[in-house]
Amino acid sequence: MKNLFDVSDKVIAVTGAAGVLAGGTANYLQEQGAYVIYLDLFQDKVDAAVAAAKKISDKCCGYACNVLDQTVLDEVYQKIMADVGRIDVLINGAGGNMPGATIGPDQDVFDLKIEDYSKVLDLNLKGTVMPTMTFAKAFKAQKAGCVINFSSMSATQALTRVLGYSNAKAAIDNFTKWMATEMALKYGDKVRVCALAPGFFIGNQNRALLINEDGSYTARGQQVINKTPFRRFGEQEEVYGTIHYLISEAAKFVTGVIVPVDGGFSAYSGV
Ligand SMILES: NC(=O)c1ccc[n+]([C@@H]2O[C@H](COP(=O)([O-])OP(=O)(O)OC[C@H]3O[C@@H](n4cnc5c(N)ncnc54)[C@H](O)[C@@H]3O)[C@@H](O)[C@H]2O)c1
Repeated sequence: MKNLFDVSDKVIAVTGAAGVLAGGTANYLQEQGAYVIYLDLFQDKVDAAVAAAKKISDKCCGYACNVLDQTVLDEVYQKIMADVGRIDVLINGAGGNMPGATIGPDQDVFDLKIEDYSKVLDLNLKGTVMPTMTFAKAFKAQKAGCVINFSSMSATQALTRVLGYSNAKAAIDNFTKWMATEMALKYGDKVRVCALAPGFFIGNQNRALLINEDGSYTARGQQVINKTPFRRFGEQEEVYGTIHYLISEAAKFVTGVIVPVDGGFSAYSGV
């Protein structure tokens, strides 16, 4: 019987591919034989990601690509089509938070900086919608393809202090279901759109929030652990398998879902 998880014939474009979760996933999928296109904001980060990826195999390339710049997105899409010829999977990994869009521990809810709030909404929501609207044109032509978005635990449960990011991730859940429906109805059952909702993984965005310099948990880190039945944070490689499954033939009747990868955080009331 054929291997339902074989991704070795797929061309996979990954935004935020110099980052922790998307970058690690990009490397993993290349190790599984896929051709991976590394996209991130700055050329030097892309060059470093591609140089590291070349050690895995020659099946990779990269482009500087600001996910919020439509001109750049269109140029990169044209270059990929000219250089590589097609895209089978888009992983929307670019995203993140910033302090001004978060209510600080000593701040009031009304201290929110609307400018920073808008920036976080843009990066996470438009930074997912715009690349999808650009790169998924290939899926329309091919009548096949898969988009993977990154949601968060903050999409469906209120996480104190984190407003802009939560609003954007909730909208990503909605966009995932909307786009999955629209693409399938228009272009058939080989075009799928799914999302991953990671629990808490230590990355550059949240390290200081969750872990003290001596390695102990901050008060907030301890709150997260208390609501995670696994009693630990996630390891970055623990997202790879879910994405591998979602983009593979094994998930060919699966679309519009948001899969938690969270050590049980979303299942547990905390009591
Ligand atoms: N780490 C976690 O615990 C966690 C939890 C839930 C969801 N997520 C989500 O998973 C995704 C990946 O997270 P991560 O931890 O790997 O983040 P990360 O900060 O390590 O990587 C994000 C990458 O996005 C890039 N980026 C930022 N702005 C960009 C732009 N305008 N255009 C193109 N690239 C841009 C950055 O350069 C960076 O390389 C994000 O959407 C994040 O919100 C992470």
